[in-house]
Amino acid sequence: MARKIAFLNYKGGVGKTSLIINTAACLVKLGKRVLLCDFDTQSNASIWLLRLDRWNKINASGEGAIFSIFDPGIARVKNLIIKDVVEGKEGGKVLPGLDLVATIFNLVDLESEFVGDPKRPPYLIFQEQLAEVEADYDYILFDCPPNILRASQCGVFAANEIYVPANPDALSLIGFTLLVEKLHKFHALSASFRRASMGPAAQVQGIIFNSIKTGSDIEVPKMRMQLRLNQFKTAKRVSPKAKLFESQVRDAMVVRRAVTLGLPVNLISQEASDESQDNVIGDYKRVAAELVRHAE
Ligand SMILES: Nc1ncnc2c1ncn2[C@@H]1O[C@H](COP(=O)(O)OP(=O)(O)OP(=O)(O)O)[C@@H](O)[C@H]1O
Ligand SMILES: [Mg+2]
Repeated sequence: MARKIAFLNYKGGVGKTSLIINTAACLVKLGKRVLLCDFDTQSNASIWLLRLDRWNKINASGEGAIFSIFDPGIARVKNLIIKDVVEGKEGGKVLPGLDLVATIFNLVDLESEFVGDPKRPPYLIFQEQLAEVEADYDYILFDCPPNILRASQCGVFAANEIYVPANPDALSLIGFTLLVEKLHKFHALSASFRRASMGPAAQVQGIIFNSIKTGSDIEVPKMRMQLRLNQFKTAKRVSPKAKLFESQVRDAMVVRRAVTLGLPVNLISQEASDESQDNVIGDYKRVAAELVRHAE
């Protein structure tokens, strides 16, 4: 059964999308079959992986992205999957094994204009359709905006695990705290729709520090985060296994450049060919390996 994982923090801009794309690419290099579902109407993950030309076409047509399963409600998740999504500059599939369910700007309508059937909330519709393709994957990852509104709820409801990207600052800690509170409320709200076959409601399993500047001392923010995690463990609001990841991701210009290139960093040749692993690609590889180990 696929591991279903959402990356979430109520603090925006902490590196959720960068972490999910680059970790996904490392999981593929480990031989895993990975599906990434984009639930952020900003479409950052979709634009990054499709590049603007391909994404613009989908956005202009209004079809071929996740909102179509809700409105007009004819599309199905299995038909929206863009197989082996990453293409090289000259075309050609350069990362076979990484598939995408894209989003476009119309996803924002799910939050306000969409009037569905209260007996079938959007997260239930998505989860039922995702079940049809789960056997094809080892990992299904959900990139979420910094909230648990309707779009995000789809990822959170389908997921069994949550990882929290964080920067070493007070605002990330506040974002994590708010996330745990809102998650608890959402699970209570959606409990009547859960079936045993879905596995456990997703709890926070780990905190992953991102964008760490060289030479900066992050022991104090780490200690504060650990303390908060311990409090939540005692209150049974996070997984008993929840931990701060030993692996962390450094701040590196190539991460910002990767977006423009439309590639995960491990496909950018100069960096990938550095054997030392003492670079940001090595960081993402270690995060991916730790994520794999965490389920063992
Ligand atoms: N390790 C890193 N090194 C340098 N820049 C980074 C790193 N990780 C993320 N960034 C940059 O930080 C910014 C925010 O990252 P990203 O979009 O991944 O965050 P996010 O949490 O997904 O944001 P949002 O809440 O808007 O979805 C981007 O410009 C990204 O390129
Ligand atoms: Mg993002």
